Amino acid sequence: MANIYHLLIPSLIILSNFLPSHQNHFATTPPLPVLPLPSYSQLKWQQREIIFFHHFGVNTFTDSEWGTGKESPKIFNPKGLNTAQWVDVAVQTGVSLSILTAKHHDGFCLWPSKYTDHSVIGSPLQNGHGDVVKEFANAARARGVDIGLYLSPWDRHDYRYGKTIDYNEYYMAQLQELLNKYGSVSEIWFDGAKGSNAPNMSYYFNDWFAMVGELQSTINIFSDAGPGVRWVGNEKGFAGTTCWSTINRTSLSIGNGSIVNYLNTGDPKGTDWLPAECDVSIRPGWFWHKSESPKRLSDLLQIYYNSVGRNCVLLLNVPPNTTGLISANDIQRLKEFKSAINTIFSKNLAQLCSVKASSIRGGKDSGFGPESVLDNDHLWTYWAPKDDGKKDHWIEITAANEEVRFNVVRIQEAIGLGQRIKKHEVYVDGKRVAKGTTVGYKKLHRLENGVVSGRRVRIRIISSSGIPLISSVGLHFDPFWHPNGR
Ligand SMILES: *[C@@H]1O[C@H](CO)[C@@H](O)[C@H](O)[C@H]1NC(C)=O
Ligand SMILES: *[C@@H]1O[C@H](CO)[C@@H](O)[C@H](O)[C@H]1NC(C)=O
Ligand SMILES: *[C@@H]1O[C@H](CO)[C@@H](O)[C@H](O)[C@H]1NC(C)=O
Ligand SMILES: *[C@@H]1O[C@H](CO)[C@@H](O)[C@H](O)[C@H]1NC(C)=O
Repeated sequence: MANIYHLLIPSLIILSNFLPSHQNHFATTPPLPVLPLPSYSQLKWQQREIIFFHHFGVNTFTDSEWGTGKESPKIFNPKGLNTAQWVDVAVQTGVSLSILTAKHHDGFCLWPSKYTDHSVIGSPLQNGHGDVVKEFANAARARGVDIGLYLSPWDRHDYRYGKTIDYNEYYMAQLQELLNKYGSVSEIWFDGAKGSNAPNMSYYFNDWFAMVGELQSTINIFSDAGPGVRWVGNEKGFAGTTCWSTINRTSLSIGNGSIVNYLNTGDPKGTDWLPAECDVSIRPGWFWHKSESPKRLSDLLQIYYNSVGRNCVLLLNVPPNTTGLISANDIQRLKEFKSAINTIFSKNLAQLCSVKASSIRGGKDSGFGPESVLDNDHLWTYWAPKDDGKKDHWIEITAANEEVRFNVVRIQEAIGLGQRIKKHEVYVDGKRVAKGTTVGYKKLHRLENGVVSGRRVRIRIISSSGIPLISSVGLHFDPFWHPNGR
């Protein structure tokens, strides 16, 4: 080896005297990723931030949450059914994906399945010629909203349930109907609920997932164990304050109560990209009940900060009523919710400031400068520091004239190159106002002590795998935030 070097080095020096320097000719390359990475469909899902669930079926008409399977299809009679109204509500709320319960635990099917008569076929809806899944899919497509479907594995009606092969054949036949007949489906939702009367019933998840992947190329499969999106481990809509999109799928199993904490926080060493979805209902129940009302705006905002603001997607259930429409009080609450989010986040006070950083990959004008955190691209333009082994990376926002006054700090990582940040802190004029662990796609700090004013806001990245890459930073004022009643 030493001999070869001796021969090469002099000739390299000579060559470099004649060749133009390549150093400044080409743009600085992006850094290598930190694995695992999201798939195309997972990235798209993440950017939706809020998606809808619609629980609708015989339970809507029996005023219950779990049907028995003995309901007569005749009770399913939404006289004013208008799925376009559901989708309009989604559009007004800024929601680009809505998931419908094609079948819940009671086994009643909202589409005319060939494999059972326990469906809309036996209902008064269009004298047995109705198809809620079709109407929903068509209304959504016409308004540019994507659809998702839930097909409950637990079936309290079907005679095949409990006979493993027969029931898995039935279930897969229905999956094929749903994923072949209604166009593109962006998410499919599986849970592991099982009847206690059928202890030996096994669900052939691997067969189901293989079939889903075959029939829909860009779909995300949701379950306790993914493989596209994972459950967050509770139905409150709250992710862990630490929330990694990475986890070990080999440690997960569907319907296993002992993994809920692991699901809630993810795993910094996880080998699979499997981000969490936070499911919660706008009302106490999942189905519509006359006696129930929507949650307060302050509760919905808390859910938003604890889901979207903790690197997750919020799956908000909005149940249609017995008429077949979203109720006026839910619509009103969603308008307030959307308007509050706009009020808080449409103005970024950092945009009036200058920004500098501890270092810049490739130097000034490399495209990796800190000004990237103030543009509108929250994924592919980002600040990158030099990879020089230094540990204390920071970005600082300085007000030009007046102090900035804010109570929310937003930080976003360039997750297209992996989730990296493990620990970070926020300082205003040298005083720490917030600290946290993971950031991921979006981290929102609602400041514990309320509003702060200052000239210099510094975000310190104390620990990360590889160099931290920050795609966006925001300083916001949230008029709905009153910690401790102040
Ligand atoms: C479940 O399987 C076990 C073991 O194969 C068997 O002894 C038992 O009878 C089965 N139970 C039912 C309800 O089929
Ligand atoms: C549930 O998860 C725990 C922790 O990963 C694991 O030890 C256990 O075997 C799992 N149980 C089942 C039934 O898969
Ligand atoms: C996840 O897998 C990685 C790589 O094999 C391992 O280092 C880590 O300890 C695992 N996490 C858990 C909680 O077992
Ligand atoms: C369902 O909601 C609509 C408003 O969107 C309302 O007109 C209708 O009366 C409601 N139905 C019931 C049973 O409350």
